[in-house]
Amino acid sequence: MNVNICGVDLKNPVIAASGTFGFGEEYANFYDVSKLGAICTKGLTLNPKEGNDGVRVCETRSGMLNSVGLQNPGVDHFIQYELENMKKIDTVIIANLGGASVEDYINGVEKLNNTDIDMLELNISCPNVKSGGMAFGIKSKVAYEVVHEVKKACKKPLIVKLSPNAEDIVDMACKCCEAGADSISLVNTFKGMAIDINKRKPVFDNISAGLSGPAIKPIALRMVYEVSKAVNVPVVGLGGISSFKDAIEFIMAGASAVQVGTANFIKPDICLDIINGIESYMKKENIKDLSEIRGII
Ligand SMILES: Cc1cc2nc3c(=O)[nH]c(=O)nc-3n(C[C@H](O)[C@H](O)[C@H](O)COP(=O)(O)O)c2cc1C
Repeated sequence: MNVNICGVDLKNPVIAASGTFGFGEEYANFYDVSKLGAICTKGLTLNPKEGNDGVRVCETRSGMLNSVGLQNPGVDHFIQYELENMKKIDTVIIANLGGASVEDYINGVEKLNNTDIDMLELNISCPNVKSGGMAFGIKSKVAYEVVHEVKKACKKPLIVKLSPNAEDIVDMACKCCEAGADSISLVNTFKGMAIDINKRKPVFDNISAGLSGPAIKPIALRMVYEVSKAVNVPVVGLGGISSFKDAIEFIMAGASAVQVGTANFIKPDICLDIINGIESYMKKENIKDLSEIRGII
């Protein structure tokens, strides 16, 4: 079951996705989280962020919308108070980093360089203040610039997490690889919205919010398939994975590992079911190594 993502060995391909697993502590009440292939931290920013006002999450058919607004305690707090506990868990720790400017990202990376995190996942879905708030992950050229600068500063293996709202997801992935990404993860949430018909107002103060969960799986799977065919770095697939079958589909589409997000809210130990399910499937199908089925489509 073990997989290697840019030189880092994961005991299995199942990773808890950023923003849906905190720093792992709460889930440890439900199961032994060291069974996971890796844990991705809540999205960190250089300075603490309080997040958005108003409603932050709302359920949709087969999914959810969120407008958390990257609430997090900041990189320094993470390093000082959270990382030590996370390192006690026998799994790979991936720090997810967001930022509103290239300088923010670089300052965050420089602080994380000198820690025990195993990898860094760069979230380029954040609004870029210099481009009038448009996310770094929409235009390939803007993404190239931030990834290029971050790569120069980064001493850890660098995963770049793509937004499905990118103008052209394949071109975006290729540009990020050209800029130095060691791995690509996709997808982040899709831009959606909801309206409260009794209040006659949008549910979210920001009007739009991020859609995740089973509703997005077929689109995420198609994007992972297309990107896997186009790049030469390991791809981490996510978007709506909630069963071992979903995970196997992503692996067959070309993913080296998968992340599980929203499904953790439905069943806190779902990752364990997915890990066990993959193992049983491999036994049943006489698969000795996941590379036998990776990218076979
Ligand atoms: C409540 C919530 C918070 C999230 N926060 C982050 C975050 O801080 N950084 C990030 O890169 N992605 C964040 N995401 C996106 C997820 O990591 C994941 O990319 C997305 O939800 C799609 O996967 P899923 O359908 O399995 O949830 C968040 C998602 C949710 C639902």
